[in-house]
Amino acid sequence: MEYLNRFRKNQNEIQEILISLYGEQNLLGQLDKIMLARYNQRSVSLKDLDKKRLEKPLWYMDKDMLGITMYTDLFAGSLSGIIGKIPYLKEIGITYLHLMPILKMPIDQNDGGYAVDSFSEIDPRFGTNKDLERLSNALRKENISLCLDFVLNHTSSTHPWALKAKEGDQEAMDRYFFYPNRDIPDQYDQLVPDVFPSTAPGNFTYVEELDQWVLTSFYPFQWDLNYSNPNVLFDIIDSMLSLANLGNEIFRLDAVPYIWKQLGTNCRNLKQVHLIVRLIRIVMEIVAPAIVLKGEVVMAPKELAAYFGTEEKPECHLLYNAALMANLWDSLASQDTKLLIEQVNSILSLPSHCHFVNYIRCHDDIGWALDAESQYNMGQDPIEHKKFLYNFYSGNFPFSYSRGELYNFDPITQDARSCGTAASFCGIESALENNNMDDMNKAIERDLLMHSLIYSLQGFALLSSGDEIGQLNDYSYKKDPLKVKDQRNVHRSNFDWEKTKLKNKKGTYQNRIFSELKKMGEIRSIDNCFNSEAFVSTWDSHNSKVFIIRRTYRDEELLCIFSFSDFEETFYTNNLVGDYVDFFSKERLTPGWGYKIKPHQYIWAKKVK
Ligand code: GLC
Repeated sequence: MEYLNRFRKNQNEIQEILISLYGEQNLLGQLDKIMLARYNQRSVSLKDLDKKRLEKPLWYMDKDMLGITMYTDLFAGSLSGIIGKIPYLKEIGITYLHLMPILKMPIDQNDGGYAVDSFSEIDPRFGTNKDLERLSNALRKENISLCLDFVLNHTSSTHPWALKAKEGDQEAMDRYFFYPNRDIPDQYDQLVPDVFPSTAPGNFTYVEELDQWVLTSFYPFQWDLNYSNPNVLFDIIDSMLSLANLGNEIFRLDAVPYIWKQLGTNCRNLKQVHLIVRLIRIVMEIVAPAIVLKGEVVMAPKELAAYFGTEEKPECHLLYNAALMANLWDSLASQDTKLLIEQVNSILSLPSHCHFVNYIRCHDDIGWALDAESQYNMGQDPIEHKKFLYNFYSGNFPFSYSRGELYNFDPITQDARSCGTAASFCGIESALENNNMDDMNKAIERDLLMHSLIYSLQGFALLSSGDEIGQLNDYSYKKDPLKVKDQRNVHRSNFDWEKTKLKNKKGTYQNRIFSELKKMGEIRSIDNCFNSEAFVSTWDSHNSKVFIIRRTYRDEELLCIFSFSDFEETFYTNNLVGDYVDFFSKERLTPGWGYKIKPHQYIWAKKVK
């Protein structure tokens, strides 16, 4: 009954979407069949979860939300291994666990699991589908929601569909984009930029078996799927539902802006992409309403917001705040927050259903995509500034404290991105090398400053596993022939459980970082100013090195103040009256001729009533 009611309510819109995508074919019945079968298969306990979520649909905006993202094997060996580590996750307050790709993948050439051999079967190296179900149950008991990657854009070149295609099977070939010669590929290449200009240039790969070219926007071993074939979309939807039925609660929609291709365009953010995301949202609302969609949309703000859809026709529930990562690291290196303020304001001006996941590091590189127009306006040359940033974060700039690596350096455009862990970028690695306590203190302060920012913003913070204990870069990937070509491996290393023990030992950097992050999470989860209904805005500090966020909830007020300066600074706040006390130092902010803030200090100042 439930299913039928929900289906009927949405059936017209589904029909409209299918017609817009595929014309007047009668596809509704086919989709209904897939959905109903998965609905019937959904367990009683997951249907209970659906009910619970329907009663409180904005649960993912709760102030106690805190995420972590990790590789299963690097963190705990296997899915079952993670079960034993749940107490560790609880200790720091995690409510959301994002596991990097765990579906079947080739042993080599798998792009960290983003080249999939199966859309519904767990890779035996991590465990079985049953193990996943056990893990999701165990997490749910502890109020932790599981998030899995779903790679929509491509399969591996060894996925069963690709293998069949290589044999010339037309049904399988129709799931990809094949061309007998370079005519069409050359036309595409003129307008479609490279995703990996130096590690995987071009958008097509020659397939010897067929003497044809196949579209590969990412790596040559990742074949782009052809969504203008409804069978592709329906199989993908069916696989997503099968994972939802194993207890997954959040889907990270990998590289979603790329999934629709059209000659004559740059093949990003096309209107059909939005129709597909909207359709997936509706399907989930009918079959498994507990599901939340998180889009991986690494695009400029104007394209980004469209992935939330409208309030009437929502698409993703959550999006990554990707530009924030670059802007935060820029502010740290430049000791200037002008661009950061603009970026945060652009996010804060979006409607209230737009909710973001904020992070300083993830499994990928940092692409230095700052807002070029704003840079010109402030007299900054975007290319020169980018060079400064990637040199700074690889330690190749005078007085840089950072350790990191360049990624996809393009000698023609001079573009490059940066790889490294938060701790190494902040200077912990170099302070250890130089055995310098003073530098170490500064490095820890920078690291905490960066983290405090993501705990303060609208949305919720997503930690990158290892950062909570200041894990450093690991250069051993250079000795592994399968990893050496991808510098992102420098920040994808084994979780160091030995060093993690130091989190309980006073005086260690592991202890300072872990306990301070824990404190931030605790304050955040109880203070009303972190409620999702709080009004959040940036606030002028009259000092470009000092960044302020003001959060008000009813008559409560909190100022989150951050110094990106290497020196003590003075800042001023207009129109604020009253006394404020910092949650961390317990000090009262006393207005005199301005306020003082120490280098890299962060303050959460609550107004005293
Ligand atoms: C996403 C992932 C990245 C991967 C790419 C291709 O951008 O974050 O790691 O290389 O998709 O699937």
